[in-house]
This record gives sequence, C-alpha cells and structure tokens, in this order.
Amino acid sequence: MDSFKILRKIPIFTDLKDDILEKIYSRMQRRVYKKGNMILMEEDLGDTLFLLNKGSVKITRVSEDGREVILSILGEGDFFGEMSILDGESRSANVVALEDSEVFILRRGDFLDLLEQHPQIAIVLLQELASRLRKSDQQIESLSLADAENRVAMALVRLAEELGVIKMGQVIIENLPFQQDIANMAGTSRETVSRMLKHFEEKGYIKKEGRKLTIMNFEDFVKRYT
Ligand code: CMP
Repeated sequence: MDSFKILRKIPIFTDLKDDILEKIYSRMQRRVYKKGNMILMEEDLGDTLFLLNKGSVKITRVSEDGREVILSILGEGDFFGEMSILDGESRSANVVALEDSEVFILRRGDFLDLLEQHPQIAIVLLQELASRLRKSDQQIESLSLADAENRVAMALVRLAEELGVIKMGQVIIENLPFQQDIANMAGTSRETVSRMLKHFEEKGYIKKEGRKLTIMNFEDFVKRYT
C-alpha cells in the first residue's frame, strides 16, 4: 500500500483525495515514542500538530498539591497540539504516551494552509472540539457530583469510548491503563480503583484478564452510572 494512504484512517483526512493526502504526507515528520515518554509539556511553546497513528496518550495537568489529573485519553486516529496552533498560547497540558506510540507531526503553517484550502477539514476539527468540550463538561459533572463508584465507572466509560472495541454489546479494552491512571482520571486513589474493579467484577458488569478488560453489557453499564 502507498504509505500516504495510512493518513486516511485519521478522521480529519478521511474524505481527501489521494493527491492531496500525498502532499500532506510529504510535509509530515514521523516520530515514535516509548510507553511513558513525555510528548508535549505544559507551558512549552509549540507550533506543531500531532496525529496519533498508533498507540494511545494521556492528556494531563498537575494539581496544586502535585497530583496528576488526567483530562483525557486519546487513541489511534486522534490529533493533539491544535490548541497552541489555533490560539498562539503555550501548550495547555502535558501529553504522555500510554503505550509505544507513533505520531505524524505537521507544522503550523502547513496545517493552516490545509484548513484554508480544504474547509471540510475545519468542519471535522470543530466537530471533534465540540465532542471534547462535551466530554469535559461530563467529567466536571462526574467529579463534582458522583461518589467514587460512579466516578470510576465513568472513567471506564470514557476509556471504553476512546480505546475500546465494541462487539455484540460488549466493549473490549485490550490494554487497560494502569490503575493509578484510572484513579487520576476519576479523582480518587489507586486503592479505590482496585476495590471498585473487584466490585464491578463481582456484580458481573466487567471481566478482567491481565491487561484486558471487558464491559459485559456496555449500554446497561452506561445507563446504570450516568
Ligand atoms: P496544546 O495546548 O497545543 O497542547 C496540549 C494538547 O492537549 C492540546 O493542544 C490539546 O490537543 C490536548 N488537550 C488539552 N485539553 C484537552 C482535553 N480536555 N481533552 C482532550 N485533549 C485535550
């Protein structure tokens, strides 16, 4: 397969013609990161857009008392780094590889040219930004209102949406992040996450085999906890 065609699985590029994809590909730089590597650091200056071709990343900030707060998890096909490009401010958060990951990097000027020449990319980009704002609103609500059981459940729902694969009503997450990461998403402790995962398993809502987690009936699970 022509290498540039791998860009087609990135949603903001899906509808572009081959010659345009090829042109974008020629302007991109490919980079790989090992699990745990810092890709972007909060407050750094930056003028590059990242497209995640393989792996997953966590978007984090550090709270006043030094705890890591996970704002979001992004998976294959997602982009990040667009905020600094669009508003000219420094990086708004840290981005850390959750697994060995591969990214394509596009410079600001090339990205802005693309948006001007292909407005359909801007529309998909805005849709994704609206969806991220919606998720952030849900997260604020879940952190302020819910008890620990709900917060951990909501973190699993977000992980399922970002990293999971749906099969006959079940959602399978092949590489569940560490319990500490789930705790940092849910604003609770690792011990509570461990206790809640056991509780969900005893209830038959989830199944855990090593790093693989299955939510047995995703629709029911979402209804129960949201
Ligand atoms: P930028 O500010 O350039 O660098 C950090 C990136 O993290 C940011 O662009 C976004 O791509 C991403 N990011 C920041 N906050 C969120 C969020 N709440 N949800 C998803 N991605 C985010």
